Amino acid sequence: MSWHYGIILALLAHLAATVLAPYWGLIAATSFSRDIIRLTGPIFGLLAAFGLVILIVRRVENDKAKAVTSRADWMMLILFLVQVGLGLTITLFYRWGSAWYPYTASPWLFSLVTLKPAASICPSTAAANQAHFLNAFLLIAIIPFTRLVHLFTIRSRISAALSSCHLEPENIL
Ligand code: HEM
Repeated sequence: MSWHYGIILALLAHLAATVLAPYWGLIAATSFSRDIIRLTGPIFGLLAAFGLVILIVRRVENDKAKAVTSRADWMMLILFLVQVGLGLTITLFYRWGSAWYPYTASPWLFSLVTLKPAASICPSTAAANQAHFLNAFLLIAIIPFTRLVHLFTIRSRISAALSSCHLEPENIL
């Protein structure tokens, strides 16, 4: 649970900083709001890191969980571990991400999404940052080969619901 809460909140924070970039001056206008924003990074990151380590240890120790974990799933878990470790490194040592992310990473991400890559506004040249950005793309690329793909397939969720009612999905869908 700690993993899910931590990573979902961290990714929502990424999304908020990206989408709300034009209003960031207003959002981070007071020292109180800046302190709250600065606190969220380490809290979400530590929550995710703690949960992820527990999740990996359980998978290593539990034979049933190990049996249903493919090579791609292990690779994904390692990439997540690296990603969260790098994210925490940025949060703790490249302060404050909230001060530069909306003005550099956000327009850079928009330039990628709109298929007009602007290398000149690449968020930061610090090695940990570059590795964090690169690893994010590796993680996204590996998703179709892992169990995480279930998040994006309606059919598999319907199938899971049907099989839990002892119905055969192939005969219905
Ligand atoms: C698979 C995608 C990604 C995952 C799982 C991920 C995960 C994390 C985590 C767990 C943290 C530490 C907690 C936090 O500060 O929120 C973090 C921090 C950070 N990430 Fe990511 N990240 C991803 C993609 C990206 C991308 C694409 C960028 C920028 C282009 C980015 C930029 C940052 C920055 C600047 C921080 C430090 C924020 C701060 O100072 O608090 N991340 N990331």
